[in-house]
Amino acid sequence: MIVVFGSLNMDMMMVLEKLPRPGDTVLCPSYELSPGGKGSNQAVAAAKAGAEVKLFGRVGEDEFGRILLDSLSKTGVDLVGISKSSDLPTGCATVCVDELGENLIIVATGANLENQQSEIPNFLLAKGTTLLLQMETSVDENWKLIRRARKFGARIMLNLAPSDSIPNEILDCIDVLVMNEREATRLGLHLGFDIISPKIVAKRVAANFDLTCVVTLGKEGAVACMPEGTWEVGALQGEVVDTTAAGDAFVGVLAASLDEGIELSIALKRASIAGSLTCLTKGAQGSLPTLKDIEDNLKNINIPRRSA
Ligand code: RIB
Repeated sequence: MIVVFGSLNMDMMMVLEKLPRPGDTVLCPSYELSPGGKGSNQAVAAAKAGAEVKLFGRVGEDEFGRILLDSLSKTGVDLVGISKSSDLPTGCATVCVDELGENLIIVATGANLENQQSEIPNFLLAKGTTLLLQMETSVDENWKLIRRARKFGARIMLNLAPSDSIPNEILDCIDVLVMNEREATRLGLHLGFDIISPKIVAKRVAANFDLTCVVTLGKEGAVACMPEGTWEVGALQGEVVDTTAAGDAFVGVLAASLDEGIELSIALKRASIAGSLTCLTKGAQGSLPTLKDIEDNLKNINIPRRSA
C-alpha cells in the first residue's frame, strides 16, 4: 500500500508563446482550471498504475477544494486522510506552458501548509507501506513523518520538489530520493559537494547516505544510483506538448512498481514511460497514463543499462 502525504492544488493553466521574464507582462487567449498538486498527482499516477493509495492532504472550505475532491473521488485514491482548513484556501498553482512544452509554476500553498503528519496512524507506517512525500507541504511536518516512518518500518520515498535543503539525519532515513536535474544540482550545493553535476550528485548521495538516488533527465530518461551501482534508463520519444506532471507520473509509477515488489530496473522503465506519456498531452492529472498505456509501451524503450 502507498501512503501519500502531500499537496492538492487547483491548477490554472495558461499556454504562452514564451515564458515571462522578470518585469514582463505577457498575454494569452485563455486559461483552464484542472486538478493538480504534486501530492495529488503522484497519488493518482500510482493508483492508475494499479496501487492501493491513501492520500493525506488538506484543502480549504471552498469551491476549489470541492472540485478537487470530487475529481479525486473518481480515481480510486482513498481520501479518508483529507481534512479541511477552516481559514486557509485550497492550494492554487499558476502553470505557464510555452510552445516547446516547458513550464513555469507558481504555487500558492494555502491549506497544504496545514497538512498534519499526526493524522497518519502508526499502523499505516509499518513494513509493507511505501510512504511518499514531496516538498509542497510543511517541511517540518515532512521531517517528523520521515522520522516516525523510519521507526515503524515503512519504505520512505521523497520527491525533493520543489527543491530545498535537507538535513543529513533525514537523508539517512530515506530509502528512495527522486529529483530532477536542477533539484539535484541544488542539493549538491547544499551538501557542499565540489562537483554538482546531477549524475555525480546522485552517486555521492547514494554512497554517503546508503539510499537509492534517482535523477530524472527529461528527454534523456533517468539514472538511479545505489551504493553498489547505477541504472540508466532512456525515455520514449514523441512530440512534447506539456511537461507538467511528468515528474509526478514518474514518481507515482516508480512508487507503485516498487511497492508491488517489481525490481528497480523494471520499475524505472515503467516510471520513465509514464513520465514520457504525460508530456504528450496538456495538463497534470488528466494526462497521467493508465497501467495499460504503460504496458503497451514496454517494447518501445530499451532495457535499462547497469554500470558500476
Ligand atoms: O508537478 C506539477 C504540479 O506542480 C502542478 O500540478 C502544480 O499544482 C504544482 O504542484
